[in-house]
Amino acid sequence: MSVAEQSIAGAEARGHGFMASSVGRKVVMAATGIVLFGFVTVHMIGNTQAYMGAGTFNSYAKFLQTMLHGAGIWIFRAVLLAATGLHIWTAVTLTLDNRAARPVGYRAEQNIASTWASRTMRWSGFILAVFIVYHLMHLTIGNVHPAFDHANPYANFVKGFQVPAASGFYIVAQLCLGLHMWHGVWSVTQTLGLVHPRYDSLRRTFATGLTLLVVGVNISYPVAVLAGFIH
Ligand code: HEM
Repeated sequence: MSVAEQSIAGAEARGHGFMASSVGRKVVMAATGIVLFGFVTVHMIGNTQAYMGAGTFNSYAKFLQTMLHGAGIWIFRAVLLAATGLHIWTAVTLTLDNRAARPVGYRAEQNIASTWASRTMRWSGFILAVFIVYHLMHLTIGNVHPAFDHANPYANFVKGFQVPAASGFYIVAQLCLGLHMWHGVWSVTQTLGLVHPRYDSLRRTFATGLTLLVVGVNISYPVAVLAGFIH
């Protein structure tokens, strides 16, 4: 079966209703995207505690693990997992449906900008998914960490980033996060209906500012450890 035939079969299998319609799935993709960008922003702010030393960072990690008598972290993990799963599912099925709708593809010169944007979204999204699995194995589970200690998240952070290859991968992944966030924030504001030319510069400033802030601060962590500033 060709990709187009598989996609048509998939679209038929999805049947009717909100999640079967491309508008419904775009709304789900936008809503889960907002949840994930919100998490990434809060996570970036939380990690700034690393600049305040081992005591502050470890108390913050302890707070996350014990909030709501330990249930908080599991509620939060369930929400993140569901948002990530729905986000990837809607992205993949929308892409396949789009391909089925135009199996021959546009002539390149007609569609350079949007093809470039959607292609980068797929690549940056894929690299981010690989990064998240690695990141969980590195700093949460610890099975790919050189000296993981469940009782000392600060030491895990420092020793983890002292490995240049690991830090390098974090930096590349943050650049992909930047591409993904920039285009994602820009498109989500469009999905929310802010398409009037009057809002364009506001949307661009918001997407660029938020992306530069998150990516810049995230990249500062491995760089600060490698430079010996956080030790
Ligand atoms: C350089 C940037 C980052 C640093 C320094 C960092 C640091 C950390 C640390 C130290 C933990 C473990 C907390 C603990 O167990 O006490 C953690 C967990 C986690 N991080 Fe990051 N992170 C970064 C970027 C990201 C990004 C970009 C994402 C998502 C796209 C992400 C998603 C997660 C998730 C899902 C967890 C697991 C939370 C849990 O369920 O326990 N992180 N991160």
